[in-house]
Order: sequence, then structure tokens, then C-alpha cells
Amino acid sequence: MFNIVKILLVGSGAREHALLRALIAGGDEVVVAPGNVGMNEAAARFPLNVSDGQAIADLAETESVDLVVIGPELPLVNGAADAVRARGIACFGPSAEAALLEGSKAFAKQVMAAAGVPTAMARVCTNQTEVESALDAFGPPFVVKDDGLAGGKGVVVTDDRRIAGEHAAVCLQRHGEAAVVIEEYLDGPEVSLFAITDGVTVVPLQPAQDYKRLGDGDAGPNTGGMGAYSPLPWAPEGLVDDIVARVIQPTIDRMRLDGVPFAGLLYAGLALTSRGLRVVEFNARFGDPETQAVLARLESPLGPLLFAAATGTLAEVAPPRWSNDAAVVVVLAAANYPQAPRLGDEVCGVEQADALVDVAVLHAGTEVADGRLLSAGGRVLTVVGCGANLSDARERAYAALDHITLADSQFRRDIALNKD
Ligand SMILES: Nc1ncnc2c1ncn2[C@@H]1O[C@H](COP(=O)(O)OP(=O)(O)OP(=O)(O)O)[C@@H](O)[C@H]1O
Ligand SMILES: [Mg+2]
Repeated sequence: MFNIVKILLVGSGAREHALLRALIAGGDEVVVAPGNVGMNEAAARFPLNVSDGQAIADLAETESVDLVVIGPELPLVNGAADAVRARGIACFGPSAEAALLEGSKAFAKQVMAAAGVPTAMARVCTNQTEVESALDAFGPPFVVKDDGLAGGKGVVVTDDRRIAGEHAAVCLQRHGEAAVVIEEYLDGPEVSLFAITDGVTVVPLQPAQDYKRLGDGDAGPNTGGMGAYSPLPWAPEGLVDDIVARVIQPTIDRMRLDGVPFAGLLYAGLALTSRGLRVVEFNARFGDPETQAVLARLESPLGPLLFAAATGTLAEVAPPRWSNDAAVVVVLAAANYPQAPRLGDEVCGVEQADALVDVAVLHAGTEVADGRLLSAGGRVLTVVGCGANLSDARERAYAALDHITLADSQFRRDIALNKD
């Protein structure tokens, strides 16, 4: 229906590598900025400081693209989508104002309250006295969240009152007008649901579950994400419809009525608690690594959906088609990730792994020097395995990982274990 000629994809992680593959599979021409070395054969790459919205808009103009797709949150919160749209170019991604749904947890709580969306009870604190009284009120386990973007390091969940108070103090010192959110602990399994929206119409994708902690059995520190899988065979019947009806659509409607329409991807992180579903957080973009699992199951083209969301025509587009197969994604992280990842180690076996049937190796923190592939970031690669069910997909992903060597690297061995 839409004749997309050219897309500029912004970002450099495995999420963007997955987006690139899906867009190309759908027949679109894509250029990436800055991209990563895993994308070299599939797309032209341009250097770019992604936090510079004007630079993104300049590149979109000089490359004469029809659509810009922005992967990470930082450019969105900085207004990159506004800068692109100001040049008359369609952009998949919310305005800076709407991206506050991710950029300020206090703002997200306000919107949810106004929209009647179920979430953890919370107090927004601006000084340590308020923090202490909120910690008293909620009791352990304590949940302390930096109001602003913190690159996955903003949230501490702990039984230790001293650690909770100290984290709140750090958050309060971090910015000028600082706030920290203290909230009720939510039990139960977590689910991630992505929805594509043009600000009116909502198109949910398939649900996924991610693994945020570094170690097996959810031990160790929080990370950017160590693995994910989709679908969720254990999820209650009608879960996606329920989340759309009770969370996504009311939020999108509220934002529009408040004069801050949200167009792009709304990511709802949810806990299925004993008292029903609750929003843990909103993000304003595709999540990494869930995207790698969800898009592995997409059978229809991605580009027309993103273009329609960017141009207010989502109601006219056929809904996405999904494979019944399962996808399991395992992240390979560098030594010492997440504290101080060691860089510059050689990565071997990627081509052999990628050549396996129903396996894809997506790049994130990699670079090539003197013809050798080296680690260049905390999360180095994600390996995607597909199969008729989660066990098959798991087997493929881990068999592929057996081919890849990276000194002292880390990966979880329990992704999607016992989930089907
Ligand atoms: N109220 C809560 N009760 C229990 N666990 C929570 C709660 N809030 C957050 N968590 C845990 O902490 C993780 C990170 O929290 P949250 O998603 O709000 O932070 P974030 O830094 O914005 O994460 P992301 O990097 O995914 O955007 C959640 O995935 C969840 O596992
Ligand atoms: Mg977040």
C-alpha cells in the first residue's frame, strides 16, 4: 500500500540490527547511523552522534529518506523526532514531550493516574526526609527509582533499608531538579508488550519476557537485559487484549486528550501480580533484547507499520502476521559487564554460528580491527534461536553459542528454561 523508498535507522545495538533485518526482509531500502559492523553488508552506514537531533535531521535530508526510525531513548527524549518532523520528514518515534513517558517516571505515574491505568502505588520525593517517610510507608522490599533516564542503572530493589536510602540520595544528587520515585513492591512474573501507535490507533505486537539480572536464577546486578523469549505459553488467555484495553489504549487516549499525542512505540513493562496486572514501567521505544525475539517471529513487513504510525494512518494498515514458532534470545556479554566491561577481546566463531539453521547472530558491541572481530561494548552479541517451541529454540540458541568464543564472556544458561 505504501511505497517506501528509503529509511534511515538510528542506533547501533542488537535491537537495531534486528530492526534492520526486519525492514530489509520487508523490501525496504535502509541506511543506518551509526550502526555496527554486523550491518556492514546489509546497509550503508553513516557516522552520527545519536544524541544530536539536528544531526539526525541533517542526515535524513541529505540522504533523502522517506522515514526515520529512531531506536534508542536518548535521542527521543532530546527531541530528535521533533527535529526530523520539522524538516517535513516522517519519523517513527514520539516527540520529546511524549517521550517523557519514559524520560520521567514521575510523569508516567501522573499519566497513569489520570488514565486509570493500574500501576504500583508510588510517591515522588524531592528530598531525603520525604524519601525516609516513603520508605517507612511502603516497607521492604524497597523499590527506589531515579526519575530520569539512567541507562538501566536507575532502579534498586532491595530488602536493605540503608541501600535503599543511599540509592535515593544518589538519585537526588544526580540532576539539578531531582526527583526519586519510591514505590510499592510488585510480585509475580513480568511481561513486556510493545504496541505501535500513531497516537490514536494501537497495534500490539507479540508479548515477550526478558531477563534483566546478570546471573542464572536472577542472581546478580540488573543489566540492560541478558535474554528474552516469545511467545509466552504460560500467559493467561487474552493477556494481550487485556493489556491493550486496560493499559495501552487508555494511556494513548489520555496523552492525546492532554495535547501530548504519543506516536511511535509504547513499551509496557508489566507485572502479573496476585492482585492483577500492574505497569512496572513505560518505555518510548523498542526494548532490547525483547525486540530480537519478537521480530524473529514477524512474518509480514515491518516498514509499512512504522510508516503508518509515523503518518497517522495506522487504522488503514493490515495487522502484523506472526509465526507460531518460538524465538529465544541469549545475550553474550563482555568480561566484567555491567560494572566495567573489558573491551578489545577477539570474538571468534560468529560466522559459523550465524550459518546454523534457524539461528541469527546480531551484533551490538563489536568492531573490526586488522580483520579481526573485537568486543567493543558491554553487551557484545545476541544470539537468536528459532524453533517449533521454546525448547527447540533454546537448543538452537545455545548450540550456536557453543561456536562462539570470547575470553571471560558471560551469558545466562537459563533463558526460557522450563517456560513451555
Ligand atoms: N515496583 C516494583 N516491584 C518489583 N520490582 C520492580 C518494581 N519496579 C521495578 N522493578 C524491577 O526493576 C526492573 C527495572 O525497573 P524499571 O523497568 O522501572 O527501570 P528502567 O531502568 O527504566 O528499566 P529499562 O532499562 O528496562 O527501561 C524491572 O524490570 C523490575 O524487574
Ligand atoms: Mg525504562
